[in-house]
Amino acid sequence: MLQIRHLIEPTDFSVKELEDLFELADLIIDDPKKYLHQCDGKIMVTLFYEPSTRTRFSFEAAMMRLGGSVLGFSDPNSSSTAKGENIPDTIRIVSGYADIAVMRHPVEGAPKAASLFSRIPVINAGDGGHQHPTQTLTDLYTIRSKFGRLHDLKVGICGDLKYGRTTHSLVKAMARYPGNEFVFISPEELRMPAYICDDLDRSGAAKYTECRTIEEGIGDVDILYMTRIQRERFSDLDEYDRIKDSCILNMDKMKLAKEDMIVLHPLPRVNEIHYEVDNDKRACYFEQAENGMYVRMSLIMLLLDETGDFYNGRVLSVNDSVMSFLELDRCRNPKCITQIEPSLRQRFITYGDGIKVCDYCGAVLQKG
Ligand code: NCD
Repeated sequence: MLQIRHLIEPTDFSVKELEDLFELADLIIDDPKKYLHQCDGKIMVTLFYEPSTRTRFSFEAAMMRLGGSVLGFSDPNSSSTAKGENIPDTIRIVSGYADIAVMRHPVEGAPKAASLFSRIPVINAGDGGHQHPTQTLTDLYTIRSKFGRLHDLKVGICGDLKYGRTTHSLVKAMARYPGNEFVFISPEELRMPAYICDDLDRSGAAKYTECRTIEEGIGDVDILYMTRIQRERFSDLDEYDRIKDSCILNMDKMKLAKEDMIVLHPLPRVNEIHYEVDNDKRACYFEQAENGMYVRMSLIMLLLDETGDFYNGRVLSVNDSVMSFLELDRCRNPKCITQIEPSLRQRFITYGDGIKVCDYCGAVLQKG
């Protein structure tokens, strides 16, 4: 491999690379046996500092189905983190033991920080309320398989848009395809963060509207992406109790939707989708979860450069969205990894229009 690639942000791969990745996932689904030994002898380490079922298991199953092995922890208290080891040291150590690392962390930007010290590819499996790029690969793959395209779609995103990292990554990813439009459906307190909306406003990449109820938004969307209210990210649990039931999908509301709409959900669900909806042909969330494993198989092969002749020796292009790095200030997001581990170098991305954002957590430091 010429250069270590990481997947930290949903836009780290170009649209063309994503299509290649999805095509490889198609091939794996068609003939999974063919890939049983693709990663023989390779080791994946899963560093999960936060609870997970689907993401960790699907990564582990993906690696095992490619012939590789897995080690790691799902409870940081059983690792040296409990002794105070920091992210750079942890990743330096596991870089010597494994070939690829998957990290989930409650602090925004932690996988990015790890990638800067890593000698092996690092995959962000969710960092706090920030991003969840591999869930987005799963989402895009499912949308692509249902509609045959990722452009000219109207996407309703419903629930906890403030803390729901899957929604942030989905918007960033879908905004890169032409003609997409978003309807953000959430209670006032859980609206899509300004940095995501500002990004859409600035780039003009996709139009969006906001509303408060499913009834207002469901009518003409092609996709309704439901999410759980993220209880664990609330500092005030009374506020959680007040708004936890504000967006619930049931069959009465499904009657207002298009016949060919699909309902997605990254899962786990709490109570935001009634069980009766599961039997509707438009409910695609379980299929979506299964797709996640195949997409992750494709991703692992790609990052380990074990794609056989699929890429035909093509060198992958480097993400070109970064214009320059400046070190002027400290990130002021209290949830950013740089606040928790102050030894980390500050890194900022300055875009052409003068806006400056933290390279770890995406917080805006200076408006353009
Ligand atoms: C999501 C997550 O962890 O952000 N779960 C997942 O990975 N499928 C969504 C959630 O926890 O609500």
